[in-house]
Amino acid sequence: MTAPEKQTLILSDTRPEDIARAGSILAAGGLVGIPTETVYGLAANALDAQAVLGIFAAKGRPADNPLIVHIAELSQWAPLVADLPPQALALAEAFWPGPLTVILPKSALIPDETSGGLPTVAVRFPAHSAAQAVIRAAGVPLAAPSANRSGRPSPTTFAHLREDMEGRADALLDGGDCGVGVESTVVSLAGERPRLLRPGEITVNQLREILPDLEVDPAVLRQLEAGMKAQSPGMKYQHYAPRAEVTLVDASPEEFVSYVNLKRPDATLCFTEDLAGLQAPAYCLGSRYDAEAQAHALFTALHQLDLDGAQKVLGHLPSRRGVGLAVVNRLLRAAAFRVVEPVGHRLLGLTGPTGAGKSTVGLLLERAGVPVIDCDAVSREPEVYGPETVAALQAAFGEDVASGGVLDRRLTARRAFAAPGGKETLQAITFPPILAAVRARAEELFAAGHRLVAVDAPTLFEAGLDNACARILTVTARPEVRLGRIMARDGLTEEAARQRLGAQQEEEYYVNRSDYVIENGPVQTEEDLAAALGPILEELGVTP
Ligand code: TXA
Ligand code: MG
Repeated sequence: MTAPEKQTLILSDTRPEDIARAGSILAAGGLVGIPTETVYGLAANALDAQAVLGIFAAKGRPADNPLIVHIAELSQWAPLVADLPPQALALAEAFWPGPLTVILPKSALIPDETSGGLPTVAVRFPAHSAAQAVIRAAGVPLAAPSANRSGRPSPTTFAHLREDMEGRADALLDGGDCGVGVESTVVSLAGERPRLLRPGEITVNQLREILPDLEVDPAVLRQLEAGMKAQSPGMKYQHYAPRAEVTLVDASPEEFVSYVNLKRPDATLCFTEDLAGLQAPAYCLGSRYDAEAQAHALFTALHQLDLDGAQKVLGHLPSRRGVGLAVVNRLLRAAAFRVVEPVGHRLLGLTGPTGAGKSTVGLLLERAGVPVIDCDAVSREPEVYGPETVAALQAAFGEDVASGGVLDRRLTARRAFAAPGGKETLQAITFPPILAAVRARAEELFAAGHRLVAVDAPTLFEAGLDNACARILTVTARPEVRLGRIMARDGLTEEAARQRLGAQQEEEYYVNRSDYVIENGPVQTEEDLAAALGPILEELGVTP
């Protein structure tokens, strides 16, 4: 299907007359590329079958792949659907205008062309002010899929939009770069249970506050098997694919770097944490711990790979937590589901603030057959600090902290914590030998055949041990809960316990850097923790 070459008008969202022009083109049945907060869309009058057919032709999109209908007033929704259930209104109240699309049974107003022949219609109220202005100027709801040619990465800059749609649309409206960078979260309320069909910036946890029984469609993370019916037809087509062959690597930053340096691909899609020592051109998506940044950078990076002519690309598989699920979902499709695990085993970081219940989770891991290396215990082993470390500690904290080569640990700690910057000095000296011992222990366990080994480290990130971990699990609890627990456990006064908590990182510091989070309540039962740990172990391939 090739669309006839069109004369494409270039418009800017900074000019009111251009918004009006876009509106009148759309009202007359034309096609206009418009900015939204997620990605650029290719818009047409959603209620006009002929206009909508133009979208399919311009994109080269299969006719059975339905379009999202965009509105700019809540009152535009009811006429498009058979019924507006309370759940739908609650979603709108919580997330609209914004990057959420809601699917419901359609009304007779929606032509089959718009719904791809389905009895349902997907509706979204975008937050982008120019998108809203164009919808209002057109005076009708607008069908707008992402404005890429079918199969290609979605456009997140005006340059991408021109690349794919100049000559195919009647006008393109420049609105600068798209903020979110991945397409909206799509939720269906048309089935028995609410179902997430496509992850986006609105996360599963956010949605479950409104829809506690939300299920995640299996196609979000898996390739549909032959004969399986796609809930969302968009899931069955190859998607987001750059021309390069992308393979995803499921590994820690250190393992990723080793693998890349061995394989020497044309380019890597990686994180800031991977950059040190990486011997291949890097298209960095931001920090491993910043899924919003990854989402924002992803499609620009895929476009750039094409422009630079990369053939073989290795990408670092991101965390699925929060917005990360959307990034993983797009990357898996860009990679045609090719994922390698180069080392065949994983180190799991186990961390969190003191008093949250980390040790109990450690015991449960041991019970499930996962060995746990306790970093605090390693640091107390007599042989962990060699003569050079002892000498460095004496130089920093006084000759008398050791005698005859034997370190007085209490005195060392007291001196370190009394001096300004002393804690950091102490860590700079002691972390390297502790890490060397932990790594050696882990290697022994892997060599003995363990595929998953956990390392319990309260200062996992400060020590840089997170770069050796393929996954990180944080156990956390609210400060009042932790306070009570450490007072009881360590026999501390409230003041001493508060001081101990104050010396630690905030809860979010750990949570924001984790793949999995177990939030421990005030009444901590082992059963609760085991129930929370179960799905995590399952995802890590551990069957108890
Ligand atoms: O952020 C976005 O949603 C962007 C901007 C432009 O708003 N639009 C977008 O549209 O991503 P599109 O067409 O590229 O993706 C729509 C997805 C497809 O996977 C499609 O199959 C699914 O939503 N979809 C649309 N209507 C559906 C329906 N009635 N039932 C199931 N899936 C539907
Ligand atoms: Mg699309």
